[in-house]
Amino acid sequence: MKIAVIGLGYVGITTALFFHHFHYDVIGVDIDSKKITQLCSGKLPIYEPELEALLQKQLTKPSLTFTMDIKQAIKKANILFITVGTPSNKDGSANLSHVKEVAQSIGRYQNGDKIVVVKSTVPVHTCEKVRDWIIQSQTQPYAVEVVSNPEFLREGTALYDAMHPDRIIIGAENAQAAEVVKSLYSSLNAPILITRLRTAELIKYTANAFLALKISYINEIARLCDTLGVDVDEVAEGIGLDQRIGRSFLKAGIGWGGSCFPKDVSSLWHLFKSKQIQSKIIPALVDVNETQVDYYIKQLEKRLHGVNGKTISILGIAFKPNTDDTRDSPAIRVIQKLHRKQALLKVYDPIVFKHHQLSIPATICQTMDEVFNNSDCIFLLTDWNEFIQLDWNAYIHLMRTPFIIDGRNALDGPSLQQMGYMYYGIGK
Ligand code: UDX
Repeated sequence: MKIAVIGLGYVGITTALFFHHFHYDVIGVDIDSKKITQLCSGKLPIYEPELEALLQKQLTKPSLTFTMDIKQAIKKANILFITVGTPSNKDGSANLSHVKEVAQSIGRYQNGDKIVVVKSTVPVHTCEKVRDWIIQSQTQPYAVEVVSNPEFLREGTALYDAMHPDRIIIGAENAQAAEVVKSLYSSLNAPILITRLRTAELIKYTANAFLALKISYINEIARLCDTLGVDVDEVAEGIGLDQRIGRSFLKAGIGWGGSCFPKDVSSLWHLFKSKQIQSKIIPALVDVNETQVDYYIKQLEKRLHGVNGKTISILGIAFKPNTDDTRDSPAIRVIQKLHRKQALLKVYDPIVFKHHQLSIPATICQTMDEVFNNSDCIFLLTDWNEFIQLDWNAYIHLMRTPFIIDGRNALDGPSLQQMGYMYYGIGK
């Protein structure tokens, strides 16, 4: 069986290397020539730990190739994975233009029966549309089965998540096609749930919105903890031990961001609206997340007696550690809001600025000395290990006001206070 993976973002690259690891012939396809050149020379166009070494190892075999030639890839492969992006439209709905283009190419170049597997996160009923788009573009009436197989890969741990999934979801209207896709995962020891197409599509959105809800919930509880003198991390520990709740995604902090949660939550919300069902929960979890940044800024203003003219140093701009992704990162919103309040901003991130040039109203620092020098506040926004392990004692003398806002509740507040820092962590 030959697999084509169309769309080489972090999901597509991980999917391609994952199947090749399990001895399938894989062709990776993308329209971006730079990306293909990089991949062919063993370089990863994204920062994703472990993946580059695996890519280099696998490229030594001819059974893994990368190409821009979608026509040949479609002709050669029997199973076609769609892994292109589905960014948000202005109204919050998912933009399906890339998915549609790929579907039309599949129809146009189809030379035999194919199974098309949609891994991109798409609204309910999209897979049915994909089938229609393919058939409408066909030059001959070949058989095509569309299967939904949503991904649950976290950036930063994508390879680990692919190899150790909690579950595999396969949505299909054709039992045989579902079995073929199921067989692709036979090397894994994970529960496999086979559902209808539309169910699989909804499972993905429901999962991501539920995780975002957990975070927003603990973040709201954290605000209450601030007024009660209760430690939110202990509350999370206490409720997390209940197996019905679980400990994960209960880390209070600046809020959720990234390439998935914001767009998936707004796409689910849009789905509710399009069916004229009023969601009470989705707007609430979005509202908590959006106002969380304002809540932190208020804490900062209270302690510094305003931020106008004050120097604030931001530690971390990625939406979470171990990624160079800044899409919908809360750190960017913090920077923009503080800039509007006339704060002077510096920023340091161990990875992001090595890969990207960002247009932000902040001075980019290269060293910790620059970060701390004459600063009125260190605002930690990404819990990179480098910050958690930092010798904070060595820098306190450089600061104008030794104040730390820990936007991820990642630091040891009491020891920082012993060193002489003022420390604020939400609900601590
Ligand atoms: C997410 C889903 O986890 C994954 O299954 C899906 O396929 C893609 O979207 P990802 O976007 O990589 O993955 O990030 P994730 O690790 O889930 O974190 C999302 C955001 O929530 C980050 O901004 C993170 O910092 C924040 N977060 C997470 C918290 O604030 N608290 C937590 O307890 C967990």
